[in-house]
Amino acid sequence: MTGAPSPDRRRLLTAGAAVLGAAASAQLWLPSAARAAETPLPDGVFGLGIASGDPLPDGIVLWTRLAPDPLNGGGMPDEIVPVEWEIAEDERLRKVVRRGTAHARPEYGHSVHVDVRGLRPDRSYWYRFRAGGRISPTGRTRTAPHPHAKGGTLRVALASCQNWQHGYFTPYADMLAQDPDVVLFVGDYIYESTPSSAGPRRHEGTGEPYTLVQYRNRYAQYRSDPDLAAMHANAPWVVTFDDHEVDNDWAGEVPQDPAKQSHDAFVARLAAAFQAYYEHMPVRATAIPDGPHIQMYRRLEFGRLARLNVLDTRQFRSDQVTSQAAAEDPSLTMLGAEQKQWLLDGLHDSPARWNLIASQIMMAETDILPGDGKLWYYDAWDGYQVERTALLDEFASVRNPVVLSGDRHLTMISDLKKDFADPSADVVGAEFVGTSISSNGDQDQAAFHAQWDPLKADNPHWKVIDAHRGYHLFDIRRDGIDARVRVVDTVVGPQAAASTLATLRVETDEPGVQVV
Ligand SMILES: [Fe+2]
Repeated sequence: MTGAPSPDRRRLLTAGAAVLGAAASAQLWLPSAARAAETPLPDGVFGLGIASGDPLPDGIVLWTRLAPDPLNGGGMPDEIVPVEWEIAEDERLRKVVRRGTAHARPEYGHSVHVDVRGLRPDRSYWYRFRAGGRISPTGRTRTAPHPHAKGGTLRVALASCQNWQHGYFTPYADMLAQDPDVVLFVGDYIYESTPSSAGPRRHEGTGEPYTLVQYRNRYAQYRSDPDLAAMHANAPWVVTFDDHEVDNDWAGEVPQDPAKQSHDAFVARLAAAFQAYYEHMPVRATAIPDGPHIQMYRRLEFGRLARLNVLDTRQFRSDQVTSQAAAEDPSLTMLGAEQKQWLLDGLHDSPARWNLIASQIMMAETDILPGDGKLWYYDAWDGYQVERTALLDEFASVRNPVVLSGDRHLTMISDLKKDFADPSADVVGAEFVGTSISSNGDQDQAAFHAQWDPLKADNPHWKVIDAHRGYHLFDIRRDGIDARVRVVDTVVGPQAAASTLATLRVETDEPGVQVV
């Protein structure tokens, strides 16, 4: 949102990271008659950390959840607890610009979502919470640019797929050093899988989560990763879920294995999963679930530079097909009629130079049958051929559409074509599939290339494919997007070395992506 990060921002970043867990001696800021009567809370009540999200030009959501016993339901008394908050223009919290008291309610797992307004655009803020005599770490966040702002640089980090059991979330340590303005997380924040001793870390609990308390415990375990916690504490996040926040490959109200989960049981599971998701994410009250439904698709504006359309490709989709012919059924939908119209309206009416689309799952074609004929993955956009082709056809009249995806546990960077069935079809956009933070662990790179490189001839729109763990980083400016694939050498341990695997460029008003 600004030019190259100033020395000032760098200095503050370092200080902000160091503040984590070291705020106990900070001054109290809000003398209150009620304070004398409050129930003291134990040390560690802020152990799940703090976060911020969904930046507006004048606002931000601040999040925390009181949970002194995080892996056992939270450990809070069954009562409403007042939580004071404050947000300041400086790291030492001397220039406080807004403060107030929120209520952590037992029915929301004692989570707190403060929707602060009245802030200034395109600048850093610092915030903290206080409850029961305890003070949270100090977090740093950032507002979106002024609605009329056309210039500057917006630095976005794209992340997805963090399987606790497959590795440590080491890419976040490098992401923190890169100081993004906003982190975009496109799904698989938790995995619902059963605990296993096969990997470097083991899931809590005894099986897959089904109940609200079980999902809460799973989120709490994930939040204990120190690199994830630090990244949440130092930049706003924009999040959406994919399948593993609920159940592998679910679609609408259909679970992965309908023979094992009844419809009623799965609807109850959806409600529990969405409730826990809301409780742990820095999202607005518009995302408070209504039973087995949650409103997650939404738009965020970054001045006139970029519009971000965050999709929900799970709740409204048709169930996955199981054959090539079935994937071409025109009645299949990925987005549902309402969301599809909302997306098209938002693309065609956009005042922004760049129209970003956060799609949990890959949009470009993946043909995994070498030679003649095609074979697709039916859970991705390939399984919804007619709707995908219609959407790409619309891209031809949208300014600079760029799709940001996850799910595949690979880096796959592609040109988007009007029709993948037609080799001469026009390029209409670009897609970045942002590998995974830890899912699939440290892959054998030679084995990956031996398997996948022969498929390049069948998929000429692919520009980069790779199997390292990491994330993608974008510097978005008026004249183009400079993208870097940042990878780590390992997720097997808590420390890793990071490097740039590939550098790419998307030129404004020139559809497609080029390797630099
Ligand atoms: Fe995943």
